[in-house]
Amino acid sequence: MFLVNRHPDYRTRLASIDAETLGIAAAREVDRFLGHRDNHTETPLQTLPGLAAELGLAELHIKDEGYRLGLGSFKALGGSYAVIRLVLEESSRRLGRTIDVGELHDAAVKAIAATMTFACATDGNHGRSVAQGAALVGARSVIFVHGGVSDQRVAAIARFGAEMVRVDGTYDDSVVEAARVAGEKSWTIVSDTSWPGYERIPLLVMQGYTAIGHEALRQLAEPPTHVFVQAGVGGIAAAVAGHLALVLGDRRPLFVVVEPARAACLLETAKAGHIVKVAHGEPTVMAMLECYEPSRVAWRILARAADAFMTVDEDEAIAAMNRLARPVAQDPAIVGGESGVAGLAGLMRAATTADIGAKLALDRSSRVLVINTEGATDPVRYTELVGLDPATLRPSSGQTG
Ligand SMILES: Cc1ncc(COP(=O)(O)O)c(C=O)c1O
Repeated sequence: MFLVNRHPDYRTRLASIDAETLGIAAAREVDRFLGHRDNHTETPLQTLPGLAAELGLAELHIKDEGYRLGLGSFKALGGSYAVIRLVLEESSRRLGRTIDVGELHDAAVKAIAATMTFACATDGNHGRSVAQGAALVGARSVIFVHGGVSDQRVAAIARFGAEMVRVDGTYDDSVVEAARVAGEKSWTIVSDTSWPGYERIPLLVMQGYTAIGHEALRQLAEPPTHVFVQAGVGGIAAAVAGHLALVLGDRRPLFVVVEPARAACLLETAKAGHIVKVAHGEPTVMAMLECYEPSRVAWRILARAADAFMTVDEDEAIAAMNRLARPVAQDPAIVGGESGVAGLAGLMRAATTADIGAKLALDRSSRVLVINTEGATDPVRYTELVGLDPATLRPSSGQTG
């Protein structure tokens, strides 16, 4: 399924994208915060000339978030950033002066953080980020997971001292349960999705993700002509699309949102023109993208800044993982997790399907950017699907906390 969603009046629409959250000043602030993190380095931007030639493109670049902050996925940027911001705000309020990130480890701030509890629901990666942020500031974290989250992913979150709560049902059920319990106990919910009346914290999480676009523009010689980004609730797609549109204006790339065919809530939302919750179907191998209802703030931005919405099938994601693991020509081998490669799988489908390629004006002059949003965050699953141990491809493929 595929839909082009170009807006002739996009310039007016861009004016209402949350510049305060996704613009250049916001991204620089995230960069400044990252400068205070011990394990921060810019993630690599790999160039794949072999695959670009095979797909009939001028250039193909892949931003490898498998290296992000020791957590193996881009989610490391969002939850922990929101936790740190919230601790600084609460400390400023209680201490009666502005507390900056450089004071995060001062005794007075630590004492305040120790009284705070952060909670969230997760498919795996977001919960690790919230738990890591809470551990960093000395706060408590309680993370809710549904039955489909593997024991290995649960253990990777618990390693940060988080209390884990198993919830019956799906991701959406865990979101509802986390919000209910947190409401009762006066904990702070740090969700990566938003709902009516709850937008500010998900926007902080998305602000954290702007680091990806900000770094990529620094690393590229020229801005891309096309960007393919995968979506669960739409947070990363909205953050990257919004940031690039705000920073590049008329030079913004054509932006394509890619979802698993089995959980295409943004495609259905784009077709309907308003938020749509899709029916639960079979689980997808792209487990981190298995969301049935978009984030409201993400949709608000994508309705303005995305140009197309498409889906990929299960076998296409697995083929993209294998393609990155076993590259052609001089391309480097890259460890891309099941959900990490979905944007690339979308590009591979678009570039090899004549009518989609034509609609997106993909040709030999295209410079394409995709984001490998996770490494082998579930190494056992990775080996099942690719037939290789991720550690042999890359010694620190991000799976350890
Ligand atoms: C590896 C990975 N990629 C992509 C996504 C999708 O992000 P979002 O839910 O913000 O659309 C997720 C979400 O958990 C993820 O973990």
